[in-house]
Amino acid sequence: MRFDIFTLFPEVFKPYLETSILYRAIQSSLLQVELHNIRDWTTDRHHVTDDAPYGGGGGMVMKAEPVFKAVEAVFGSPPASPVILLTPQGRVLTQEVVKELSSLPRLGLLCGHYEGVDERIREHLVSDEISIGDYVLTGGELPALILVDALTRLIPGALGDPDGAQDDSHASGLLEYPHYTRPAEFRGWRVPEVLLSGNHASITRWRRNQALARTRQRRPDLLKRFLLSTADREFLENLIKESDPLDAEESK
Ligand code: ADE
Repeated sequence: MRFDIFTLFPEVFKPYLETSILYRAIQSSLLQVELHNIRDWTTDRHHVTDDAPYGGGGGMVMKAEPVFKAVEAVFGSPPASPVILLTPQGRVLTQEVVKELSSLPRLGLLCGHYEGVDERIREHLVSDEISIGDYVLTGGELPALILVDALTRLIPGALGDPDGAQDDSHASGLLEYPHYTRPAEFRGWRVPEVLLSGNHASITRWRRNQALARTRQRRPDLLKRFLLSTADREFLENLIKESDPLDAEESK
């Protein structure tokens, strides 16, 4: 998958792209990330990329011209690939959105800055707008990196474990089960015996039940949308009975 990132701060991407899984994915040509400095497409002497908003008020607005020029120099006019603006006003990023975008071979990411971008960029240049959550950052660089990271994990071969992305929290619609590694006992706290049993069917069921219990406790909203098997339903009904017998009676 190839990303073309349009930013005023290309230097912030490098350390992360040169580390761990993203670095390896780039080395093995599974991932390509090209950084484009929007400032390179300014034509004035001072390389100005922002200006005061029409109508007054505080803050500065990213100018349309250098952004259009940068994106069109790379993708043509109109852009031949989807271009996503990272903004708190976009649709909220979820694993479902990540999965949807993972089918694209090439993606442009435009990092907003200052108070926002000239509205004509929204209306006539970008094809999608994404927010990483309901809070406001100083710019779209971290959100762009988050999107690259989440998408890289879904590129076949990018993770050491070929099934690594399947069990992730949110990948199946449930939060992930708990993990343990050696030693079997640490400061008196033991790893659940089932994980040491070598019985793979029991381990699979235990993990599934843990994922169900954890999702019910922490993110009941996710569980409501999840398609439960008969065994899942039985487990959850027992769990409710054990934790709150009155609740279980009422929910019948
Ligand atoms: N830029 C500033 N805040 C953001 C957010 N929450 N998501 C995406 N881009 C942003």
